[in-house]
Parts: sequence; C-alpha cells; structure tokens
Amino acid sequence: MSEAKAPHQRGGYTEDVFAEELAEIGLRFEVDGEIATITLDRPDKRNAQTFATWSALARIGDILPEQVRVVVVNGEGPSFSAGIDLRMFTPEGVPGQGSFSSAARLDNASFEKLLEQAQQGFLWLRRPEIVSIAAVRGHAVGAGFQLALACDLRIVADDVKFCMKEPALGLVPDLTGTKPLVDLVGLAKAIDICLTARVVEADEAFRIGLAERVVAGGDLAKAVHDKAAQLLSTNRDAAAATKRLLQGAQGRTLEEQRAAEGAEQAQRLRALFAGGS
Ligand code: CAA
Repeated sequence: MSEAKAPHQRGGYTEDVFAEELAEIGLRFEVDGEIATITLDRPDKRNAQTFATWSALARIGDILPEQVRVVVVNGEGPSFSAGIDLRMFTPEGVPGQGSFSSAARLDNASFEKLLEQAQQGFLWLRRPEIVSIAAVRGHAVGAGFQLALACDLRIVADDVKFCMKEPALGLVPDLTGTKPLVDLVGLAKAIDICLTARVVEADEAFRIGLAERVVAGGDLAKAVHDKAAQLLSTNRDAAAATKRLLQGAQGRTLEEQRAAEGAEQAQRLRALFAGGS
C-alpha cells in the first residue's frame, strides 16, 4: 500500500500530530484515496496490544475519512499480533495504563465501561460503509486473533498461526471475537478452537472458513491490494446497502429478509433514477 496523501485536519489534530501519537503507541494509519491502512507497528514486541492500542483504533474509526471504502489491518514484522501486552498481567502493568490486577478491583459498571471503550476499537471495522481486510502473517494470538476476526475478510500468509489463548490464561475472549468466530466456523469448531487454545494453521483456517485466501508470505501485500481493487470496482452505495443486507440476514426470517431487500432496492432505484449513485 502506498503512503498517505493529502493531509487531513481533524478536530484540531493535524495529520502529523496524530501520526506522532500513533507512533508512540506502535500504530500507523495511512490513507491513500479510498483505501486506509492500519499497521500494528511494534514488531520487536510482536505487535503486542495495550489499552492505548484499542483507544487509538477507536479514534481512527472516529476520524476515518468519508471517502475510505476499504480498510486494511496488518502487522509489521513476522507476527500479525501476539495479543495483549503480557505486562498487563504483572502487578506493575503497562506504564500509564494499569494492569489486570487494578482492573480486577473495579466494580462491574466501571469494568464494563473500560472494556466497552476497548471493544469500540474493534467494532467499527464492521461498518457497512467499509470493507475491512485483515492481512495476517505469523502469529495472531488472543487479542491479535480477535482483531483479525473483527475484520470482514482475512487474507493470510501460509505461515499464519491463529490461537485463542485467553482460556489458557484463565480469561475469556472479550474483544468482540466470539460472535464472528462462531458465525464463521460454527459453534462446535469455535468451542474446539477456544477451549483447547490450540493453534489453527493456514490449511485449516482456509478449510473452515476463517481465511478467504492463503498466499505465500511474499505475496500477501499484493493479494490484499488485488482484493481491495476488486472491492472498489463495485458501486459504493450499492456495496454498503448489500453489506447491510448480508449482515442482517442471519438475524432475520426469510420473509423479513425479503422485505429488507425490497426496502434497500427501492432506495437504490430512487437514487439511480434521480441521477445519484
Ligand atoms: N506482550 C509483550 N511482549 C511480547 C508479547 C506479548 N504478548 N509477545 C511477545 N513479546 C515480546 C517478547 O517478550 C520478546 O521481547 P524481548 O525481545 O524483549 O525478549 C519479543 O516480543 C519477541 O518475542 P518472542 O521471542 O517470543 O518471538 P517469537 O516470534 O519467537 O514468538 C509468539 C512469537 C509465539 C507470539 C510468542 O512471543 C508468544 O507466545 N507471545 C505471547 C502470546 C500471548 O500469550 N499473548 C496473550 C494472549 S491473550 C490476549 O491477547 C487477550 C487477553 O488476555 C484478554
């Protein structure tokens, strides 16, 4: 993906200041026309994530330029992400961000608020107006696996290793990953993957529907770029309307889905024949 073009002014932040703040957290955010790229950029620590990572992801979601239709999430270095920063499990925690031992002392409401803020960093990646693609190489552990699951599509390198480590650490996956996992692979396979905390490699990931495509590591960027180009070849508003329909399909009856298709199509036809898009 190429470098950012035209700088944006966002509520007092210039792009340079925002980029500096992200760099301190270990993130990069680049916009090139209709494609935005988020890169976890702490390769020496295998792109381990902290509360600051999740807040920054949420902020990127808030300020995503309107023209963006495809968001690519990838990781610098050999691993997509080794999950939560293990310093969170120490009494000292991550400087300025506390630890699980301090989170454990919060009451339910305060904990829920803290977690909800973190989860916002993942949820926006499912917005109908965009398609998110996780470009995953190497390890995607715990929060790393869940970040990949937060995306609409996963294109993976042949060395990929997904692992839902949380149950092995006495925790549950809580960064919005459980629903997409069950939706993708089914309940039985999701139980198998999570409750054993075993590693899912490329062949299996493709076979069970976790990955749309597996490519050699050197071909990952091109495969993602090609998919982005395919996604950009369709009509922007029709794509968003179709994604809304597809996302709602599982929760609706056939009759409800039929009606939803009609409602979306009526809007499309009006827009098309009014000279819009
Ligand atoms: N947090 C902080 N630092 C980490 C890290 C993590 N999650 N994972 C790796 N690192 C650091 C290592 O400490 C090491 O640092 P130093 O060079 O300073 O010693 C560096 O990154 C490289 O690590 P490795 O040498 O281990 O790299 P590797 O390529 O041989 O192995 C790995 C990669 C298999 C991912 C391995 O690093 C590993 O198992 N990491 C821990 C994974 C883990 O348990 N994550 C937590 C999952 S649970 C979760 O995310 C959600 C939750 O709890 C709620």
